[in-house]
Amino acid sequence: MEKLLKTINLKKNFMVKDKYGMVKKINALRGVSFEIDKGETLGIIGESGSGKTTLGKTVIRLIEPDEGKIIFKNIDITHKKENQLRPLRKKFQIIFQNPYKSLNPRMTALEIVMEAIDGSKKEKIEKGEYLLNIVGIKKNKFRSFPYQFSGGERQRIAIARSLSTEPEFIVCDEPTSNLDLSIQAQILNLFMDLKEKFNLTYLFISHDLKVIKFVSDRIGVMFKGRIVEIGKTEEIIKNPENPYVRELFEIEKKQFSI
Ligand SMILES: Nc1ncnc2c1ncn2[C@@H]1O[C@H](COP(=O)(O)OP(=O)(O)OP(=O)(O)O)[C@@H](O)[C@H]1O
Ligand SMILES: [Mg+2]
Repeated sequence: MEKLLKTINLKKNFMVKDKYGMVKKINALRGVSFEIDKGETLGIIGESGSGKTTLGKTVIRLIEPDEGKIIFKNIDITHKKENQLRPLRKKFQIIFQNPYKSLNPRMTALEIVMEAIDGSKKEKIEKGEYLLNIVGIKKNKFRSFPYQFSGGERQRIAIARSLSTEPEFIVCDEPTSNLDLSIQAQILNLFMDLKEKFNLTYLFISHDLKVIKFVSDRIGVMFKGRIVEIGKTEEIIKNPENPYVRELFEIEKKQFSI
């Protein structure tokens, strides 16, 4: 199996000021190592503040790590300068919880998706329409503006936009956490369909065990900046070894009868 992404001992600290103006260090990542095969979905679960978003942003170099290594398709991208990274940037994308913030309110759905497509105007329109159609936006809404769409539709547009650069790897950071349950299921199904269609690999972040169980081939559990356990979805849910993970899963299972 081809390794798409490998991280070695990633560390990231943030310096923040507390309310008295004292600088303190937050160890957001304390040495995170994992690998993802091409075509695989690695789910990341963990409580708020455990470092999930920091990890997701670091592996695609939206954040530069303090220590460790990020190897993407056998290329060490850990400290690559932005101009060297540019050709690779198309290959990875990130989708956030709240697409509204990232969709330009003055652009139509089609314009938003066309923006990152290379080619002539005609090619951009054709490919933009193709992608909007694939993510389930109705043709008569292609020229509507973000505020005219529902939350689920806006996430579909954000997904179409992320596909416009033909990525191989997508970090999904709680992409359905803001949506109603029924819509959530539709969007999760869309992620699974797109994965097959475009041969995608996901790092899928969620604090919701139900969601993680549905999408993941393997699950990594984060706790205070570390992956404390990682393994095949069924095995880790059935029989977690780490006491913290056992406790976390027990609470989730009771709450949602998983
Ligand atoms: N840009 C930043 N500056 C300072 N501290 C940060 C920054 N980003 C994250 N942190 C801190 O790093 C830690 C990890 O944050 P992160 O957002 O990665 O957690 P998370 O697991 O994604 O949480 P959530 O489930 O709430 O999204 C937290 O203590 C957070 O306050
Ligand atoms: Mg987060």
